[in-house]
Amino acid sequence: MKRLENAFDVASFRQMGHEMIDMLADQLGDNLERRKERVITWMEPEAAWEKWQSDWNNRSETGTMDFFREVLQDSIALSHPRYMGHQINPPAPVAALAGLMSDFLNNGMGVYEMGVVSTTLERLVIHLFLPYFGWEHSGGGFLTSGGTLANLTALLAARAHKAPGDIWKNGTGEQLALMVSEEAHYCVDRAARIMGWGAQGIIKIPSDARHGMQTDLLEEYLDRAKASGIRVIAIVGSACTTSTGTYDDLEAIGHFARKHDLWFHVDGAHGASAVLSKKYQYLAKGISMADSIAMDFHKTLLSPALTTGLFFRDGKQRFGTFVQQADYLFEKQEEDWYNMAKQTLECTKLMMSLKVYSICRTLGFDTLEEYIDRVFDQTRHLAALIDGRPGWELKQDPDCNIVCFRMTGEGDDNELNEFVRKATIQHGKFYLVRTILRGTYWLRCTLTNPFTTDQDMLDMLGELESYRNQRQA
Ligand SMILES: Cc1ncc(COP(=O)(O)O)c(C=O)c1O
Repeated sequence: MKRLENAFDVASFRQMGHEMIDMLADQLGDNLERRKERVITWMEPEAAWEKWQSDWNNRSETGTMDFFREVLQDSIALSHPRYMGHQINPPAPVAALAGLMSDFLNNGMGVYEMGVVSTTLERLVIHLFLPYFGWEHSGGGFLTSGGTLANLTALLAARAHKAPGDIWKNGTGEQLALMVSEEAHYCVDRAARIMGWGAQGIIKIPSDARHGMQTDLLEEYLDRAKASGIRVIAIVGSACTTSTGTYDDLEAIGHFARKHDLWFHVDGAHGASAVLSKKYQYLAKGISMADSIAMDFHKTLLSPALTTGLFFRDGKQRFGTFVQQADYLFEKQEEDWYNMAKQTLECTKLMMSLKVYSICRTLGFDTLEEYIDRVFDQTRHLAALIDGRPGWELKQDPDCNIVCFRMTGEGDDNELNEFVRKATIQHGKFYLVRTILRGTYWLRCTLTNPFTTDQDMLDMLGELESYRNQRQA
């Protein structure tokens, strides 16, 4: 028992906790003030593997706090204004504290008894956001672990409500399918295949020059599917796409879905949050026509990952996706809002609502609106800086906080851009990512840090140019 008593020692928890907070606060200050030079400490995978094996082999020589410090040192720093890479936002410090508390409490949330506070806060959080979709009177929803799972859950709900027969009991009798833009996140394709619909179960609609869905092709693709004996039950709109941040025309998709009685799901993992901004809500016009919307709080709403809301226009439709008897959990089979495992794929679930609610309660919706406006505005600034700069090409004007661009030069531009991105990561002063669009390699930035300035962006472009010059020399 001595070992276990040590593991739960109150005094050392207190002391390490204080040290940990000091360490994280120092890191936050260093990042925000750009005193820390590196955003990413690049290490080849095999080198990282060796390093951490060695940590394990020598663990008696270094203490736990040294280990934590090392983790901090080697991890990519999202709170650094020169982080301009993937879509995850730097978490608001208050939400990170809520995360610590939720890990400490570890309330499982599958059933109400295991999450009296977090279950109730989850309902509250959903109700705070429903009005932004125009669903305050009819809607409902829940939080779930990530956009991937939210999209799958929404499509399972679509199947439960739109497919003929009782699939839960008898399995799928006929070929079912959904329609989605070819530019949609891969998890939508994955969801169709997880549901056993195979390649035929996902009908990809070509995208236009800006990578939004060509909605004028929908009728033709639906007719073709019907002629092949495929029953389309759902259509997914992207708000926005991952690669270029383009919003599909949700209004057009909504009308099409209504005409053909299809379930309309909006994958708003990245950009549904535009509804919070008076300036940018036009991007998501038509979103209220959806049957369901997935929205990641960890991409554009300052929450730590994973925290995703799945919202239903008709709140009752969130029930019935999973119809299961579990006598050890549920006392009755009713549609009670407070037993979360009846609605979600997860059984034990993280207390995500603590993070989201702490943001809403402490920072408020005005701060969230300011955040969205700021990062969307900054991305327009970055696009303008690139557009007028010799030797650079802008893919398109950005819709949200994602922008694609590339260097142009003599020879193979794909190789050139790949080279400068790799060099940037290896040096570590900036972080940006890449994508391939119709065979062309594009550099890609998501501005998730509200403190990224025009100077940071100019410095980033200058840094990339210096690698091009070194390569040419
Ligand atoms: C449009 C879109 N949908 C879904 C996802 C997946 O979300 P998550 O990473 O939260 O599972 C992403 C992630 O980048 C995305 O951009």
